[in-house]
Amino acid sequence: MRVLHTIAELRAAQAGHRSAFVPTMGNLHEGHLSLVRQAREAIGAQGLVVASIFVNRLQFAPHEDFDTYPRTLERDCALLQGAGCDLVFAPSEAELYPEPQGYKVLPPPALADILEGHFRPGFFTGVCTVVAKLFNIVQPAVAVFGKKDYQQLMVIRRMVRQMALPIDIVPGETSRAEDGLALSSRNGYLSPAERAEAVQLSQALRQVQAQVQAGRQDWAALEAEAVQVLAARGWAPDYVAIRRQADLGAPQAGTPLVVLAAARLGSTRLIDNLELPG
Ligand code: PAF
Repeated sequence: MRVLHTIAELRAAQAGHRSAFVPTMGNLHEGHLSLVRQAREAIGAQGLVVASIFVNRLQFAPHEDFDTYPRTLERDCALLQGAGCDLVFAPSEAELYPEPQGYKVLPPPALADILEGHFRPGFFTGVCTVVAKLFNIVQPAVAVFGKKDYQQLMVIRRMVRQMALPIDIVPGETSRAEDGLALSSRNGYLSPAERAEAVQLSQALRQVQAQVQAGRQDWAALEAEAVQVLAARGWAPDYVAIRRQADLGAPQAGTPLVVLAAARLGSTRLIDNLELPG
C-alpha cells in the first residue's frame, strides 16, 4: 500500500488501472474497513482500491468540530493496509484547496436542506463540492458510501446521476457495535456513561421499526414518541423522521421507508437510521 499526498503522485500510481474509491475523513473504524472490503469486491483483484483521508473544512460550520476532529493518519494507514487498500490519498489542505474554493456544487434544497441539511446548513454543499473534486482527482469506476450517512448517500447518488458521472455508487451496510450502536468516528467523544447510553438511539429506531411492522401508519405520532423517549433519557433530539427510501420524501404505506434520527448526547451529536421494509 502506498500513501500519496499530491494529485500528481496519485495519478501516476493509478495509471492504467480501474479504481474503486472510499472517501473518508480518517479516524477509521471497522465501518470504514468494511467499505474498503466492498470496494475490493467491486473492482476485483486487478483493480486498485483507493481510500482518501481528508478532513474537509467546507462541510463544517464554524461552531462544529473541524479543529478537534481526530487526525490519526498513521493508525488509519495501518488499518487500511490490513483491509487490503492499495492507495491512500491524504492531501494537505493546500493541495486540495490551493485557492479559496469559490466554485461549489449546490445540491437541490428538497433533498439537501432537509434533515441533516436543516440542522447543518451548507453541510451537503461542502460534501458535494469535496466529493465532486475527489471524483475528478481519483476518477474511480466505483465509489462506496456507507448507509450510516443515509442522506449523504442519496445526495451523492443524485449528483452522480444528474451530472452523468461515470461512477457506480455502491451502498455499504452500517457496521454496529455488539450492543447495536452504529460505528462512528464521533463515538470516540463519548464518556463511558454516555457510551452506555448511546445504544438507546438505535433502540429507538428499532422500536419505530417494530411499530411499523405491527401495522402502525401514524408516522408523526411514531416520530414524536421516539423523540419523547430520547428526550426523557436526557438526549437532545434534532429529529426522528420516517421517510421514503427513494427520495426521503413524506412516507406512504406500501413503499420502502427508512427511519432516520439525529440527537445530541452531552456535547456529541450522533446520527443513525434503519430501513423499514415496504
Ligand atoms: O462521510 C464522510 O466521511 C465525508 O462526508 C466525506 C464523504 C468523506 C466527504 O468529506
